[in-house]
Amino acid sequence: MPEKKFNIAVAGATGAVGNQMILCLEERNFPVKSVKFLASSRSAGRKLNFKGNSVVVEELTEKSFKGIDIAIFSAGGGTSEKYAPFAAKEDCVVVDNSSAWRMDPDVPLVVPEVNPDAIAGYTKKGIIANPNCSTIQMVVPLSPIHKKYGIKRIVVSTYQAVSGTGKKAVDELFDQTRAMINFLDYEKKVYPHRIAFNCLPHIDRFQDNGYTKEEMKMVNETRKILEDDTIGVTATTVRVPVFYSHSESINIETKKDISAAEVKLLLEKAPGVKVVDNPGKNIYPLADAASGQDLTFVGRIRDDESIQNGINMWVVADNIRKGAATNAIQIAEILAKKYL
Ligand code: A2P
Repeated sequence: MPEKKFNIAVAGATGAVGNQMILCLEERNFPVKSVKFLASSRSAGRKLNFKGNSVVVEELTEKSFKGIDIAIFSAGGGTSEKYAPFAAKEDCVVVDNSSAWRMDPDVPLVVPEVNPDAIAGYTKKGIIANPNCSTIQMVVPLSPIHKKYGIKRIVVSTYQAVSGTGKKAVDELFDQTRAMINFLDYEKKVYPHRIAFNCLPHIDRFQDNGYTKEEMKMVNETRKILEDDTIGVTATTVRVPVFYSHSESINIETKKDISAAEVKLLLEKAPGVKVVDNPGKNIYPLADAASGQDLTFVGRIRDDESIQNGINMWVVADNIRKGAATNAIQIAEILAKKYL
């Protein structure tokens, strides 16, 4: 039987993540019948490349989804909230990278290495949510540990790249760095403080409880993906002057007896994980090495000597690829193969 092919739309095609989504569709040889690239009216008429062909960007409207099988959205929460229901009405399944639908009980929140079967729930609203970038790279290694040892509590601190904020933030880090080393004045447009040569413990808006929205995303999304509301999760999310790839210091406490040696063996076989852990040779996961890759890199795996069943680890992944575009395309692949 010939392979089934699909009409695909990318909403937010001109953005950093949208662009990477297009590359992922090409690289992974997604079974594409046709592509439609959508963005705001500002970009309508621009041309983008797909597999050697030039594709004209169209303005995203309520009518964009007629005849489309799968629409992959990365155009901001407001845009997803407004337009995803129009896509669903046309029987077009949405894979949404924004936070708009993630905690909706009728929308599956999926990391393919962790809970691929949750995709079946897409029929309720016609929408599947892609988790937050920091959550994705945390649950990829923690899921096998949770299944075997039962995680009681997670304490995570993130070191997040500016590309997570979008292209404007990448430019801001570059411009401020250049200004600083030339003793020139710099501008602050994207972040409330200088990001060059600085660390900002502030990602997304502050909430009434003193945590940021990003921190609470890590708490709530982790519980939803691991399907366990009893796990304690506490997060501190920090923006650092790195262009691509987020790093995370993760501490866990488990119910069953655990050791660093066992965790290393388990993670060496875990899907989507690469253990990079040879401190004697200065080998551990690094943001620059993870950039452009689709795996989640784990190292510095060691026993937390301050508690009975505690483990520390350092986890790094490309926030634009595994943290966003690759994860979304992996979801679309399973959807296409198993459900459409
Ligand atoms: P545009 O380039 O026309 O502004 P990033 O996160 O890198 O800033 O990218 C955001 C993406 O979302 C871009 O493709 C942007 O298109 C698109 N976008 C933003 N607002 C809208 C909107 N109201 N309607 C459609 N696309 C939008």
